[in-house]
Amino acid sequence: MPHGIPRRRFLQGLSGLAGASLGVPASLGQEAPRRLPIPPLLDARAQGGRIALVAQAGETEFWPGVASATAGYNGSYLGPTLRVHSGDEVRVRVTNRLREDTTVHWHGLLVPSEVDGGPHNTIVPGAHWEPVVPVRQAATTAWYHAHPHMRTGPQVYAGLAGLLIVTDAHERGLGLPSRYGVDDLPLVLQDKAFDRERRMVYPGGHMHAMHGVHGNAMLVNGVPRPFAQVPAGLVRLRLLNAGNARLLDVAFDDERSFHWIATEGGLLREPVALRRLSLASGQRAEVLVDFSDARAVGMVSLMAAGRSLPVMRFEPQGAPGPSAAVAPRLASWDSRPAAQTARRRRLVLGSGGMMMGGMGGMGGMGGMGMHTIDGRPFDMHRIDQRVRLGDTEVWEVTATGMVMPHPFHIHGVHFEVLSRGGQSPVVEDQGRRDTVIVDETVELLVHFGQPASERAPFMYHCHILEHEDMGMMGQFTVA
Ligand code: C2O
Ligand code: CU
Ligand code: CU
Repeated sequence: MPHGIPRRRFLQGLSGLAGASLGVPASLGQEAPRRLPIPPLLDARAQGGRIALVAQAGETEFWPGVASATAGYNGSYLGPTLRVHSGDEVRVRVTNRLREDTTVHWHGLLVPSEVDGGPHNTIVPGAHWEPVVPVRQAATTAWYHAHPHMRTGPQVYAGLAGLLIVTDAHERGLGLPSRYGVDDLPLVLQDKAFDRERRMVYPGGHMHAMHGVHGNAMLVNGVPRPFAQVPAGLVRLRLLNAGNARLLDVAFDDERSFHWIATEGGLLREPVALRRLSLASGQRAEVLVDFSDARAVGMVSLMAAGRSLPVMRFEPQGAPGPSAAVAPRLASWDSRPAAQTARRRRLVLGSGGMMMGGMGGMGGMGGMGMHTIDGRPFDMHRIDQRVRLGDTEVWEVTATGMVMPHPFHIHGVHFEVLSRGGQSPVVEDQGRRDTVIVDETVELLVHFGQPASERAPFMYHCHILEHEDMGMMGQFTVA
């Protein structure tokens, strides 16, 4: 293996009970593949610094002739790609046309909690939410998604998610592939469960409550296993794992290497050559893939026992040429000195506790209290941590109970991974992050540069959305 993904994690994430739903029924996937759709691009600057989103219910034909009930922003499934510019303020207007409460969270933006869109920024049906969102961070691939109290799993699953691209002058000056939908492709990766009639369902039951909802087919931008025509050259892929729970391990079926250039928090200092990249729910990565050989290739998610799950195909157009050069330096940014941390906190993620609330609420999945942090389920009315604005802290995050990797996410911050399992972080831990896989204990160096009020605190939680909805979440103020 070219880099240090722990073997243990790979097996844990993909074997066992959660893996049981991997088999795609023969009735799925026999259709002729469809072309990859590209979500419309809404550039805030091109619209006078404004962005309008309408959360709405709809119907989507994931498979020809079979309509599923879905939801989306400005459409029936998923949302437009939003592009915002560092240094700008964006006036957003979100309208809730759903029949239930929702919120819109800017996952990856460093903004004050009052405009962050967490569970306290509720938009009731028929209402509007009009935050002014200051963009004060380096270029990155972020995303936005629904985040209502105890309903994040079902709403994101239904389709309430989209990509959010932050751009800046430095990134635009690097000469990276940047033609949206041509050589700069947004790829929203999701696994969904389809029943025998090929209708999308949100599966309930103890198994999905324990492990999070896993599907039996992979969608990219809302289409099962699509193909994309790309130039025979260097192409940038913006990967988002917007599935509710599945840990993906992205690779190509000819085992080619690619260049990893950005994490959740923006560009790496220099590109890293990889042959596989794990992507947990909520994580993003930007990679450059060289299609100069003009050969068609499939993208897959690797699974246990040498199997792999097909994700999509790429069909390069044009004549083969010499392989393309990649800029050796991408960005410079300073790591916080670990010696100057204000304090340490220890958080324990727990799962597999008692089912409380019977079969109510989560489509028969049981309820709050099954998953915890520090032994207690999430409580909207309890502040779990109080942090001083401007401080840098070390958060040590560990998991107990059922052994499985939890993608741990903190709102309003970027962090760096200091250690994993008591040792140096693995290659895939590098860069500025907002979501990290916790199976072994990790130590995170976190800088708190955004304020969070008592009225609308920031969240930290497992990004397996059913774990989050059922209590593996806490909240904190920054003041
Ligand atoms: Cu992507 Cu608190 O969420
Ligand atoms: Cu977030
Ligand atoms: Cu979890």
